Amino acid sequence: KNGYEHFMLKEINEEPDVFKKILNKYIKNDKIVDIFDISKYEEIEIVACGSAYHAGLIGKYYIESIANIKTTVSYASEYRYKKHFFNKNSLVIVISQSGETADTKEALKIANEALLDTLAIVNVYKSSIAREAKYVLYTISGIEISVATTKAYMAQCLVLLLLALNVKNDKKLIQDLFKIPNLLSKYINRDYKKYAKIISKYDDIFYLGRGVDYYIAQEGSLKLKEISYIHSEAYAAGELKHGTISLIEDGTLVIGVLTQPALYEKTLSNMVECKSRGAYLMGLTTF
Ligand code: F6R
Repeated sequence: KNGYEHFMLKEINEEPDVFKKILNKYIKNDKIVDIFDISKYEEIEIVACGSAYHAGLIGKYYIESIANIKTTVSYASEYRYKKHFFNKNSLVIVISQSGETADTKEALKIANEALLDTLAIVNVYKSSIAREAKYVLYTISGIEISVATTKAYMAQCLVLLLLALNVKNDKKLIQDLFKIPNLLSKYINRDYKKYAKIISKYDDIFYLGRGVDYYIAQEGSLKLKEISYIHSEAYAAGELKHGTISLIEDGTLVIGVLTQPALYEKTLSNMVECKSRGAYLMGLTTF
């Protein structure tokens, strides 16, 4: 464990190095290199489970907003039960840390049988999914022992961002990416214990966000449930008023994810409404 109490902590602390390693592999002289070209596809469908599905949602945000390609995200566990409208000019991206998740393997099989191009974003070298997909990109995060993924989830998001940036080269954004490893080290080393102490007192926690913040909220909520056994839900902030607000009361903790300046006020107003019902508020922002 390299001196850490848990593998998960060790792996979170490896994130800055993993981030750097991926940038150094795929970026040369401010240009994306040696990555898959998604520009020829009309549509992209991302299929995965759990945190990999959440990375897929972030990928949708990047691919749609940067590369301007319509992207849908599906749960691999639902894939064989849904009706497919396959477009021959579409790409199916499967995401998996282990490369062995049965539902994701099954979804990949369906896409392969439909003769669609398939791209696997996988961490484990030569795993089943890496072998069965037509194309593969590795997240080169090293072994992830903790059952709850951390560094590999981050790597999946980054590889998806690089796929999008490969279509629309944004030199400034590419240069800015190199600042992130130091920022990650700075934030990882902040004293989170005081926040954990507050959170541990609650039995019901709601994560709220809009757009990409909602996608982040979903991963935050999953991690919290999985690691602390505290009940938690992620909600698209504007949906709360359509029924679920009745669950917000004294003793509920509401964590707002507020990373987009343009949406800050909107989400904040939903949080204020929760406060008026007795909820305790916490906010997570990047500006
Ligand atoms: C949550 C977590 C799981 C995995 C999911 C998919 O912390 O780790 O939700 O993301 O089981 O696993 P892989 O990526 O191996 O297909």
